[in-house]
Amino acid sequence: MDEEYSEETIERFQDPEYTGEIKEADATGKAGNPSCGDVLQISLKIENGVIKKARFKTYGCMAAIASSDELCEMLEGKTIEEAEEITGEDISQELGELPPVKHHCSILGTEALQNALENYRKK
Ligand code: FES
Repeated sequence: MDEEYSEETIERFQDPEYTGEIKEADATGKAGNPSCGDVLQISLKIENGVIKKARFKTYGCMAAIASSDELCEMLEGKTIEEAEEITGEDISQELGELPPVKHHCSILGTEALQNALENYRKK
């Protein structure tokens, strides 16, 4: 099975750096994948329109964990507008390509992100 995953994906899955929840987050968002039942939450610290910190918690598969960890790293330092542009494909490329059947797992993070940013704008 490991052969299907890039080294970057396996490393992030085994030792993710961005797990957890930010206390007093400026925005939180959730997403669920109906096809597998996995869920993901993302929390963000935002200052002057820039994401300073991003963390995730998930009950998800290996690809979802690696993708969310990659996404959080990509988010830190980005403006809200830049963050909104990130796609599952971008995350997959950064990971060295996810196996095609696992592409939907990278979308879980971007959906939770969109939900968090929507909630942030409603504040
Ligand atoms: S199988 Fe559910 S997110 Fe990957």
